[in-house]
Amino acid sequence: MCGIVGVVSNANVNEKLFNGLSNLEYRGYDSVGMCFVKNSKFTIKKGVGKLEEVHKRVDFLKLNGNIGIGHCRWSTHGGVTEKNAHPHVDCKNKISVVHNGIIENYSELKEELIRKGHKFYSQTDTEVIAHLIEENIMGSNIEEATRAALNKIEGSYALGILYADEPSKLVAARNESPLIVGIGKNENFIASDVPSILSYTNKVIYLDDKEIAVLTKNKLKIFGLDGNEKKKKIHTISWNAEAAKKSGYKHFMLKEIFEQPHAIADTLNERIANNHIVFEKEFSLKEDYLKKIDRIVIVACGTSWHAALVGEFMLEELAKIPTEVEYASEFRYRHPLLDKNTLVIAISQSGETADTIAALKEAKKYGVKTLSICNVMGSSITRISDGVIYTRAGPEIGVASTKAFTTQLAVLYLLTILLSKIRKTLNEKQIKDMIEGIRKIPLQLQSVLDEYDEILKCAELYHHKLNSIYLGRGVNFPIALEGALKLKEVSYIHAEGYPAAEMKHGPIALIDKNMPVVFIAPHDIYTYKKVLGNIEEVKARGGIIIVITTEGDKEITKKAKHIIFIPKTLYTLSSILAVVPLQLLAYHIADKLGHNPDLPKNLAKSVTVE
Ligand code: AGP
Repeated sequence: MCGIVGVVSNANVNEKLFNGLSNLEYRGYDSVGMCFVKNSKFTIKKGVGKLEEVHKRVDFLKLNGNIGIGHCRWSTHGGVTEKNAHPHVDCKNKISVVHNGIIENYSELKEELIRKGHKFYSQTDTEVIAHLIEENIMGSNIEEATRAALNKIEGSYALGILYADEPSKLVAARNESPLIVGIGKNENFIASDVPSILSYTNKVIYLDDKEIAVLTKNKLKIFGLDGNEKKKKIHTISWNAEAAKKSGYKHFMLKEIFEQPHAIADTLNERIANNHIVFEKEFSLKEDYLKKIDRIVIVACGTSWHAALVGEFMLEELAKIPTEVEYASEFRYRHPLLDKNTLVIAISQSGETADTIAALKEAKKYGVKTLSICNVMGSSITRISDGVIYTRAGPEIGVASTKAFTTQLAVLYLLTILLSKIRKTLNEKQIKDMIEGIRKIPLQLQSVLDEYDEILKCAELYHHKLNSIYLGRGVNFPIALEGALKLKEVSYIHAEGYPAAEMKHGPIALIDKNMPVVFIAPHDIYTYKKVLGNIEEVKARGGIIIVITTEGDKEITKKAKHIIFIPKTLYTLSSILAVVPLQLLAYHIADKLGHNPDLPKNLAKSVTVE
């Protein structure tokens, strides 16, 4: 998605703007641009391509000024061209705008503005904003003109705005697209997310919908669209800037895969006390209420949706609460049956996924309680839900989610223990075993990461295959989906995830000697034996069998071409261990094919438009 950064300072801002944009690259984009103001004149440089490529052509660091805005564009309206790259300006080249979001009534506004004599240069919806502010600037200041313009706009926006005639002011506004304000010393920032400005400040304000911020180097004021000034809380971010760097790894994805033991240990930290689970005060849901709920609906997208499926398994199996998992994008457009005893849980790494936000808002209309499981403190989803449990994965920069996923599973597991205890569906001994199981996970994960020669071998042998199938059952069916998604996302190889027994109802037709089939088959009392049968079926058709199973296995070892062992754990926890080899497999295949797994084509880290 598009990324925005802006700085107003007492010194040249070019490097900060450049670094800010470079930290936003992970969001996925097709063009970049910057605008500086000096002596009440704009200098704008922009172009199609990655930041480094465009930088080679225009030399962003040659530009100077003590105030500037930058943008990386993920195109929605108008093709990928230099003209459509941001910033966009008004007719007089006095108002410069960068935007993330979609202006839904832009064609009506554009027609009206053209009738009034405005000349448009691009095909974007964004340019309308610059001309609309121009219409309103006469006799007023930039914040007033922006407010008047925004009152006519329908849709989502995060905006950075400069006005050449008021060269000390940086104006920002937000509606349904993420935007934060960073507070520095003799300088202030705006940005789409925290990591982009974390090297310069860890003090941030989260803008809410329909708010405008006016920043100078030493002052900051925030208003509503009604013009009334607002008092906002300043948050101190605990992530350090180092956590958002590659630290010697070739890619963020690899670094983040290797951070998982630590991320899970952090996610558990201080949440287990004796035989109890204790969430922080943001959890906010009371025991009386948790006893009464008779249904859980989980909404999420992509990898977070896969985590939700694992959660469904845990919550039904152990806490005995009927649970449904919905794609957030579908949930918002149907009329769900929710009553006061339904808890709606939203799972999101970023907390800014537009579909998940909309699904939560939809749920709230029914008066139900909502809980979010989220990685980004203060993000939109956490602010609109009644309760929050944070995953503590630290900044996840790689577009393909890895450590966010396993920490989501850890949180869902803790929540299941809490609910099982409150509702007395498990006895003290069972709770104790569950707690012991999760406590071992960080070390067990480390052992999976220490030995992955077989994964490297598979990546070497099969990176040129065009298709693959991932099969799992029960709690590991979502892991099959996640393994397939990881491969598709970063290596562009077509992959399908299926429940292993479902294979014979269709996908079996695809199996031949060119088809790698990855089975996720740890030992369990439910389905292990059945999966052995499914493995035979693939073998009989010549498929290449790769299996993830439990250490010490004797039976599968005889049937598979490649075996990857994970340590023995409780069945519900096997999913956390089993997904890691699949993440590594996807990563190494992408790397062998020469793709950058941190920036997969067409993908954005957080999808902030519908
Ligand atoms: C995961 O690898 C993806 N890139 C994507 O599916 C992601 O999980 C999805 O967009 C949801 O994002 P969120 O968790 O930030 O809401």
